[in-house]
Amino acid sequence: MTANTPSKTPVSLLGLGAMGAALARAWLAAGHPLTVWNRTPARAEVLAAEGAKAVDSAAGAVAASDLVVVCLLDDESVGSALDGVDLAGKDLVDLTTTTPAQARARAAWAEERGARHLDGGIMAVPPMIGVPEAGGYVFYSGSRELFELHRAVLAVPAGTEYVGEDAGFAALHDVALLSGMYGMFAGAAHAFALIRREDVDPVAFAPLLADWLAAMAQGVHGTAARLKSGDYTEDVVSPLAMQVAGTPTFLATAEGQGVSPELLRPYFELMRRRLDVGSGDEDLTGVVDLLLR
Ligand SMILES: NC(=O)c1ccc[n+]([C@@H]2O[C@H](COP(=O)([O-])OP(=O)(O)OC[C@H]3O[C@@H](n4cnc5c(N)ncnc54)[C@H](OP(=O)(O)O)[C@@H]3O)[C@@H](O)[C@H]2O)c1
Repeated sequence: MTANTPSKTPVSLLGLGAMGAALARAWLAAGHPLTVWNRTPARAEVLAAEGAKAVDSAAGAVAASDLVVVCLLDDESVGSALDGVDLAGKDLVDLTTTTPAQARARAAWAEERGARHLDGGIMAVPPMIGVPEAGGYVFYSGSRELFELHRAVLAVPAGTEYVGEDAGFAALHDVALLSGMYGMFAGAAHAFALIRREDVDPVAFAPLLADWLAAMAQGVHGTAARLKSGDYTEDVVSPLAMQVAGTPTFLATAEGQGVSPELLRPYFELMRRRLDVGSGDEDLTGVVDLLLR
């Protein structure tokens, strides 16, 4: 570094699993002084060979930098790794996947120990980290001021998406998006099962399925608009009554193909319940409210 080069913010990173190691490499590549700790030291040694400073305790890693990033398996591992560690004056950014309630409790826990806290939910897989064109990003929640202070450093491994002061909101957005993804995967599994025993090339079928799902995914904007206005009949293209009338065809096709309807049936039952309260001219938006306990 020359005298004119602005110094990069030092970062301490706890956790060098698949995700932590990818984060580490992104900060190293951007020239940030990086201190790393991992429960199993061999993983830290690999990063040390690439320019990180490996330390043998979580306390040592926390002491090394004002900005401390944690990316461990789950919230319990964060609690055990940081148990008894002096966090006073530190800015703790927790990228571990948790529930919203765990994130809120962890924020309060950190603040009781004199640390400022941001929670993060990573919307990327390790190969997307440090690759801006891959489109990966991280949801952040907690103090906006703290987020703005560290935004540039946090933007090195992946994009940043701040979602609010409530510490639980990053986890909430993370889990909500991933839950939507699992519903999509469930639908894709059923679709592949339908063709599985037929002379249909799954490789030729896949782009048809992907394009259809991508087109239908745009429907979430209409759902959102209806949830916001409260008028579930607004701009309805495919009324619920018509859709429910079609469900026997789907179930009979599954039966005919020797495919279990266990992924489809719960959704169809919700559609039917909504129809039964006289909502035939709505679309599927009302199902959202049936899920609320
Ligand atoms: N990988 C992904 O695609 C992905 C995507 C988005 C979000 N995430 C999230 O990122 C976080 C890390 O994921 P990962 O893929 O890096 O997982 P991973 O490869 O399984 O690594 C887990 C990390 O947690 C550490 N750990 C586990 N239990 C611990 C404990 N009790 N005390 C201290 N350290 C402990 C492990 O240390 P050892 O090396 O000693 O086992 C390792 O560093 C998770 O919350 C995950 O949900 C991952």
